[in-house]
Amino acid sequence: MSTQPGDHPQILTYEGLRALVAGRRSVRRFRPDPVSRESIERILDVARLAPSAGNSQPWEFVVVTDAAMRSRVARAAASLFSAGRKRDPEFNWSISVQPFLSQAPVLIVVLGDRRVMAAYPSILRGNILMRQSLSNCVLALQLAAASLGLATAWGTLQGGSPESEIRDLLRIPDAFTIDHIVPVGYADEVECARAAALAPARERASRRRPLDAIVHWERYAAEKERSDGAVEQFIWSETVTRVRRADSQGR
Ligand SMILES: Cc1cc2nc3c(=O)[nH]c(=O)nc-3n(C[C@H](O)[C@H](O)[C@H](O)COP(=O)(O)O)c2cc1C
Repeated sequence: MSTQPGDHPQILTYEGLRALVAGRRSVRRFRPDPVSRESIERILDVARLAPSAGNSQPWEFVVVTDAAMRSRVARAAASLFSAGRKRDPEFNWSISVQPFLSQAPVLIVVLGDRRVMAAYPSILRGNILMRQSLSNCVLALQLAAASLGLATAWGTLQGGSPESEIRDLLRIPDAFTIDHIVPVGYADEVECARAAALAPARERASRRRPLDAIVHWERYAAEKERSDGAVEQFIWSETVTRVRRADSQGR
């Protein structure tokens, strides 16, 4: 069914959409309960409707449900972190979903077909446009899952050995990037609450900067510009990925 501008089903109110967007949260611990194939197809049917640069629709999806394969994919995705921890010790690697991917009954591997970059104007950086398009798709996927009461997270990959390992495991052709893995399942609320590493995310993840602080009418309102110090403070107190640890209190 094609839709015309402004032709939205009556049920989708502004309040309903806002509640869906505001209520979705990243979930990083999952119960083993299976998710039906129908639910996954409904989720991906929404994901494919996302807007993309030039309507290039770079996305394809590999849906992994086999437990042994999920473990292998999860192990490959998490391998990024052993190197990462050494390189960036102040980053809160423990917040990441990657080591817990195999808990989820379904992994959706989001592929990007690099060949569609030929559709983009040559003066722009095509891989950026493709990746922005893929991000839209992942957001649509997450919102669709949330609307069905299913939990998701966003697992970033982007290059390196995890990507090539997953490519081999799932026989993904070279033309595709493997940017994101989205676990889908039912939230394990007990484990989410118990995992100490997730505490900062629990506290901060739902916060967003207030509307008035980020909207500038007609021109940039100089009085709203944050100082470098304020941004640094924001990073340490509001993001989930930079947290002060007991061993780096001095910062
Ligand atoms: C582009 C992008 C990449 C992300 N990468 C990861 C990731 O690799 N691992 C992870 O656990 N969460 C990842 N996230 C999830 C964010 O940390 C999360 O969305 C944010 O903290 C807000 O929390 P919320 O999703 O519960 O609202 C990513 C989100 C986005 C939009």
